[in-house]
Amino acid sequence: MRIDIITALPKLLESPFGDSILQRAQDRGLVEIHLHDLRAYGQGKHRQIDDYQYGGGAGMVMMVEPLFAIIDELKAQRDYDELIYMTPDGELFEQKLANRLSLKQNLLILCGHYKGVDQRIRDELITREISIGSYVLSGGELGAAVVCDAVIRLLPGVLNDETSALSDSFQDGLLAPPVYTRPAEFRGLKVPDILLSGHFPKIEAWRQDKALALTRQKRPDLLKGEED
Ligand code: ADE
Repeated sequence: MRIDIITALPKLLESPFGDSILQRAQDRGLVEIHLHDLRAYGQGKHRQIDDYQYGGGAGMVMMVEPLFAIIDELKAQRDYDELIYMTPDGELFEQKLANRLSLKQNLLILCGHYKGVDQRIRDELITREISIGSYVLSGGELGAAVVCDAVIRLLPGVLNDETSALSDSFQDGLLAPPVYTRPAEFRGLKVPDILLSGHFPKIEAWRQDKALALTRQKRPDLLKGEED
């Protein structure tokens, strides 16, 4: 998979992609991440990328010319499966969408700033708009990092234990059950006996029960339609 990210603040994204699982995924050649500095496509001496909005009102708008220039250039080099715009008014990002995006070859992600981008970009170039939650961030970069993390960890070979992404919360529509590690007892707090029993069918049934109970308690919305 290849992910191109267009941003006015590339430095903001260097750290999330330069550590841990996302770095390892790149080192293993499982994903290529390319950060593109929008400023390099800005206009005039000051490399302008934003301007006042027509009709008046507070807040700058990202200009159409630099964005078309960089997106045209990237699209001439390869076909993108999706051209994603990070925005608070986009489709809510959930595990199902992460799963779907993890099957793609080439993704292009545009990070918005200020009041957002000139609407003509959205109308003409963007194929999918994604929000990571019902709140407003200063820009799309942190959202893009969230999307990339959730997608990249699903690529085969990224996680060392191949099965662990499958047992994540949300993958089967349930929250994940509680987990424990050594010691079996700490300050009188014991690990449930069943987990020490070595009886795997019973352990699986226990985990399923716990996952269901936790989901009912914390996220009943996930069960809507399943239990009615
Ligand atoms: N940019 C600003 N807020 C955002 C959000 N909630 N999700 C995605 N991109 C954003």
